[in-house]
Amino acid sequence: MIKTSEWIKNNGSSHIEKKNGTELEKVRAMNSPETIKAYRVWDLTVRLFHWINVLCVMSLIAVGIVILNSKSLGLTNDGKIILKTIHVYVGYVFAVNLGWRFIWGFIGKKHALWKSILPLGKKYRASLAAYIKGEKNNNPPNHLGHNPIAKLMVTLLFLLLAVQAITGLVLAGTDLYMPPFGHEIATWVANSGEESKILDIKPYSKVNVDPESYKEMKAFRKPFIKTHVFVFYTLLAAILFHIAGVIFTEVKEKSGLISAMFTGNKFFSKKPVDMIDDE
Ligand code: HEM
Repeated sequence: MIKTSEWIKNNGSSHIEKKNGTELEKVRAMNSPETIKAYRVWDLTVRLFHWINVLCVMSLIAVGIVILNSKSLGLTNDGKIILKTIHVYVGYVFAVNLGWRFIWGFIGKKHALWKSILPLGKKYRASLAAYIKGEKNNNPPNHLGHNPIAKLMVTLLFLLLAVQAITGLVLAGTDLYMPPFGHEIATWVANSGEESKILDIKPYSKVNVDPESYKEMKAFRKPFIKTHVFVFYTLLAAILFHIAGVIFTEVKEKSGLISAMFTGNKFFSKKPVDMIDDE
């Protein structure tokens, strides 16, 4: 709760004193403890998804950077296999978490739904225009869910994460013969259809591997690894923009945007424009 005296301390009293009585009343009414209300926005699933995703992505980036520089770091093949295996196990948690969030976008609470998030349709375009106009006048409308600019960023982030999950799952098969496609890839490169021989195929080993089929598999893998690396760099940039945008909005709006990802609540003195009456 913000007290009027605190608000004046934070925002400066001199310009209020210059106002006439009615304006001063208005400013007080807008920012008094009575009018700042908490609004529920992020449900538990969204919050859990967010922080599990942050932990997984940070770990995947850290291990990914080491894999990317394995040559200059002088890693042995065994070292690389261990790192890639760790990367893939974290990747499974990441992919399952992302998959569950995808489903939640159809069955979750209002602000978790894809129709509330995706920047599509006439309504979205109108809200974007209103938001930009409000920004220009230094009075942007309050949004309980993502604001129209944030919707663009969040959609880009989800797209990049989905591409990383899909390409990563294919690479887990082509590099380490790990699920979900590992068995199919091992069958493809095997020089014999015998099940025991297929199961014997190990990463970085040519035992039981047919050289021609292996070459074909490597060619198939190429666009996946190229995309995985390209999206890795794009994701790094997008994450930096995301964090900068969140900090900027939090400082400007003071709605508790960051703490809302822990508590589920945001705080506004004006009713958010994307709120329904029972919220
Ligand atoms: C945000 C998610 C992810 C990021 C940022 C990321 C990042 C990276 C990076 C930087 C590399 C090194 C590329 C190279 O050595 O050329 C890599 C490799 C790899 N990633 Fe990911 N990754 C992600 C998700 C996943 C997932 C979900 C899986 C699978 C479950 C996965 C599986 C792999 C595999 C198998 C490799 C080794 C490919 C190779 O170098 O030959 N990744 N990843």
